[in-house]
Amino acid sequence: MLLHIPQVLAGEALARAQALLARATWADGRATAGAQAAAVKNNQQIAAGSAELPELQSIVLAALERHPVFFSAALPKRVLPPLFNRYGGSANAYGAHVDQAIRYHPDGQQRVRTDVSCTLFLADPADYDGGELVIQDTFGSPRIKLPAGDLVLYPATSVHRVEPVTRGFRLASFFWIESLVRGDEQRRLLHEMDMALMRLRTRHGESDEAVALTGTYHNLLRLWADT
Ligand code: NI
Repeated sequence: MLLHIPQVLAGEALARAQALLARATWADGRATAGAQAAAVKNNQQIAAGSAELPELQSIVLAALERHPVFFSAALPKRVLPPLFNRYGGSANAYGAHVDQAIRYHPDGQQRVRTDVSCTLFLADPADYDGGELVIQDTFGSPRIKLPAGDLVLYPATSVHRVEPVTRGFRLASFFWIESLVRGDEQRRLLHEMDMALMRLRTRHGESDEAVALTGTYHNLLRLWADT
């Protein structure tokens, strides 16, 4: 499932994140890539230990926590701390790669399976050319370039790339989620059912049928979730 979630960050929180990004120190992005990805990765990231990183991470995590559509689609068990990247100048692209299946949490205590990948766009698309996130899927390769504050969520299993940025700078946050539900197909079914139930209640209010279907949703989640 590939899902565009608009305005995960907006207003003051977005402006604050952009101000922090403007004064952050950037380092070679290859530091966090596995061997295959490092060979095609040419961008910059905010280095671990950078002064701006903790506040940026808490801005993004707070936005995710209050977002019901994100929760419904990702069913997060663990969210790796968001990272931040910049494409532009001579460090401006990331060739086709797959994300590592297992990543170490920076606390050093736990391994996290990457089921879901997210990119949160943080620069105005008018400020840069190129920089589309291209996700190869069985039904095509969508080219994704979103307004600042919008997020795209996609299965971490997919081959993807970032096209060269030929003007300006593309800024984004990216992170992975270990989901309560390992399979993309099951997550998609649960999300579709959850959203349909929300619309059903908006249109008709509470009903015996809505309650019964909510029970089915939870029983499927119970069947498929690992807590
Ligand atoms: Ni990637």
